[in-house]
Amino acid sequence: MKAATNLFLVFIGLQLALVENTIAQGLLTLTSEQAAAAAADYQQYCALCHGEDRQGHVNDHAPSLRSRSLLEAGVQERFLAMGYGRPGTPMAGFFEEIGGPLNKEQLFHLTLWLQDQAGVEQIVLPLDTITGDIEAGKRIYADQCSECHGATGEGVTGTALGNPAMLSVTTDHFIRHAIVNGRQGTKMAAFRENLNSGEIDAVTAFIRSRATGWEVHKPVIRTPPTADEYVLNPKGEPPEFELKDELYVMSKDLNEALEDKRRLVLLDTRSMSMWQMAHIEGSVPLPYYYDEVTKVADDLPRDGTWIVSYCECPRAAAEYVNKQLVDLGFKNTAVLWEGAYGWVGLGYPMSRGETTLADMNLLDPE
Ligand code: HEC
Ligand code: HEC
Repeated sequence: MKAATNLFLVFIGLQLALVENTIAQGLLTLTSEQAAAAAADYQQYCALCHGEDRQGHVNDHAPSLRSRSLLEAGVQERFLAMGYGRPGTPMAGFFEEIGGPLNKEQLFHLTLWLQDQAGVEQIVLPLDTITGDIEAGKRIYADQCSECHGATGEGVTGTALGNPAMLSVTTDHFIRHAIVNGRQGTKMAAFRENLNSGEIDAVTAFIRSRATGWEVHKPVIRTPPTADEYVLNPKGEPPEFELKDELYVMSKDLNEALEDKRRLVLLDTRSMSMWQMAHIEGSVPLPYYYDEVTKVADDLPRDGTWIVSYCECPRAAAEYVNKQLVDLGFKNTAVLWEGAYGWVGLGYPMSRGETTLADMNLLDPE
């Protein structure tokens, strides 16, 4: 089984939706050594807040890590919460890439271990967008949720639902699943008992609309840019990037270039489902695994326009795509140092994309 978990590690952070399916089919299990190591990691790094027995709410209102509704849904949400933390809350990121003590494999084993401990089967939630009456959702939120989650979603005894970092990696159905079923063994009630389905959609859509800040604005329908839209600010001056290690551009510098309307191309090399949930405005989705770089390359400018790639991980997929561009002779290419999650953590803006599952090619990657 070790070989299998290693193989799937390749997908982590990049194609978690597929990993979720594989887990749901029972194809991934831990060896007893891996489980023992994960249990030890848990006691060392997590028990302080989440409790020795994963019961939650021992310190800092850390949520329960054994409630059925959390453990059966959202491999991606749990993995990324552990790896990158929830900036702005006591939940730190544990991934070594951002200075934490755990590598990708340890984090993945911990994800599986928590699920095994809870003894729940993984279910696969749909990835599509939930639409609802945002204004009605806002009223329901104020009446029934704000007491524990805070008037602006900042988190009180309940988790911070207005946290852009959390929302940028959390699917609508993950949120809805928590509202419908509650979190067993905690103060979070199952709202299917006093809200109807339309009301639950409304409050989900309201929370979702906060992904780009706590102000209400309607989600915009987005489809990926077409070739004639690849170059941002075609009439703008080129940015003056000073690269770290001749390869990396810092979030701060990229944000400045975008605000100053500089001419550049931004490539989002994560899976299409991640682009759909949240991406840096103007980015072109070019998932590293489609082997499409060569196809898209014909539509990328060869006049020295900067091409910046980013991913979640924070850099592996982006570096992979960047290298292909360099091999194809592109000049002025760079990789975003902090990745998309670091970008959000630093408070820079994200937009939401909305495409259907069919558009995303997720079920049929070439
Ligand atoms: C300093 C206290 C603290 C420590 C230590 C800590 N956490 Fe957390 N954790 C939190 C808090 C607080 C939250 C909720 C943050 C929010 O409001 O979104 C959280 C959220 C989470 C979530 C998301 C749960 C959900 O309901 O969405 C997961 C998963 C998680 N932690 C796992 C871990 C693991 C695994 C470890 C050890 C590697 C760990 N945490 C260590 C405080 C902590
Ligand atoms: C009595 C307090 C309370 C009320 C009222 C409440 N919640 Fe919660 N909620 C919590 C707590 C506590 C948690 C974390 C539970 C845990 O330990 O896993 C939570 C968790 C959640 C989560 C999961 C968050 C995550 O990071 O995984 C969602 C979504 C949520 N609540 C939505 C709502 C909505 C929407 C309402 C109103 C309709 C609501 N809650 C009302 C206390 C509350």
